[in-house]
Amino acid sequence: MKLPPYFAYRDGALCIEEVAASAIAERFGTPTYVYSKAALLRAFDAYQATCAARGPSGGAVVCYAVKANSNLAVLQLFARAGAGFDIVSGGELARVLAAGGRADSILFSGVGKSPDEMRQALDVGIGCFNVESLSEARQLSAVANAAGKLAPVSLRVNPDVDARTHPYIATGLKESKFGIPYADAVSAYRAVAALPGLAVIGVDCHIGSQLLEVAPLMEALDKLIELIDALAAAGIFVGHLDLGGGIGIRYGDEATIETAEYLGRVFERVDRWRSERHDGKPIRLLFEPGRSLVGNAGALLMRTLVLKPGPVRNFAVVDAAMNDLLRPTLYDAWHEVVPVRSDAGVPALQWDLVGPICESGDWLAHDRSLALAEGDLLACLSAGAYGMAMSSNYNSRPRAAEVMVDGQSLHLVRDRETVAQLFAHEHRLP
Ligand code: LLP
Repeated sequence: MKLPPYFAYRDGALCIEEVAASAIAERFGTPTYVYSKAALLRAFDAYQATCAARGPSGGAVVCYAVKANSNLAVLQLFARAGAGFDIVSGGELARVLAAGGRADSILFSGVGKSPDEMRQALDVGIGCFNVESLSEARQLSAVANAAGKLAPVSLRVNPDVDARTHPYIATGLKESKFGIPYADAVSAYRAVAALPGLAVIGVDCHIGSQLLEVAPLMEALDKLIELIDALAAAGIFVGHLDLGGGIGIRYGDEATIETAEYLGRVFERVDRWRSERHDGKPIRLLFEPGRSLVGNAGALLMRTLVLKPGPVRNFAVVDAAMNDLLRPTLYDAWHEVVPVRSDAGVPALQWDLVGPICESGDWLAHDRSLALAEGDLLACLSAGAYGMAMSSNYNSRPRAAEVMVDGQSLHLVRDRETVAQLFAHEHRLP
């Protein structure tokens, strides 16, 4: 078993950076999400260092996809490191601003934005709206005109490439709800360019998530390049090309894309195209990574409540559940689960790790060989992306605490919810 960077066993005790996972569970209880600050910064730097080295070719900007993990401390860390942000709601907009992110570094993605959300984003002066339909463009034009503002827009184009990932997280095929069909893109740009209150500044796409191959991304890049040429021929000039997010991470034994290698290939392709067809004129490149910045930096700590060996399966009921980590049941996702102490005094058995929720779908891992006793602590790894962000209060379960480790220091970055908070906004009938 290969642990993610900054996770290691020392004297049989699982540590995150310099802190024992058991000490975190002791102090903050379980279930608790733990993030390594160094791992977050290392993942960001893999993008940032390559982007910074790009020099004067128009620049490259990393816009963190907030949906992957929207904790304020995570956003603050990336804002301080120089990230822009990709948001999909007014809620995420407010979070980025509260965390100290710059409004003009924000891209607003998503297939449905309310007029209110459009107004809020215009008021603070975001960097770009990624518009997904002509209807949305018309609505945005009306909102911008009423507010006396000019909305910077890019059209999210659906390049119809197969990202070869889980169908729930593939977004770039013709049949998906996302983006403007590639064949309609030039005429859509023409229509949008003619709308008052909008300034066309870019093109963008996002073909899917947890991608393990560069080829589909390069295919999408080629299609966007072709589109930008067609737009230039039609007299429409854009200043940026946004390739979206999507780089996968290692949950188990997957071979993943190296960030620097992927960026290098994109830069090389774009620079060759610009020198051949645009006299070397620079174009800005944008990326919207989510999972690859935060996924391997986080773990979910949990405690074994009950062991229930059975005739067909052995169940270990833990205190984390599908409301804390939905990915296994929603996507059949595989997360490594490791003991917090590696030197248990009991023999290993095959266990199904399940939560206390009243659903058969409430499971975190199937068929894992673990030496388990009741009360033992476990860590579900690579849970930093789409873990806490997708959590809920199902079965009236308060959401987990979140802790960030920095060397030997611990920062509680979200309190564990209390039961009273769960119904604080409900009303009894008179
Ligand atoms: N940009 C846009 C427009 C997106 O829709 C997404 C993710 C991203 C960027 C970031 O993609 P990433 O780099 O994280 O792959 N909940 C699922 C993943 C859903 C992804 C949705 N869109 C999961 O847990 O696997």
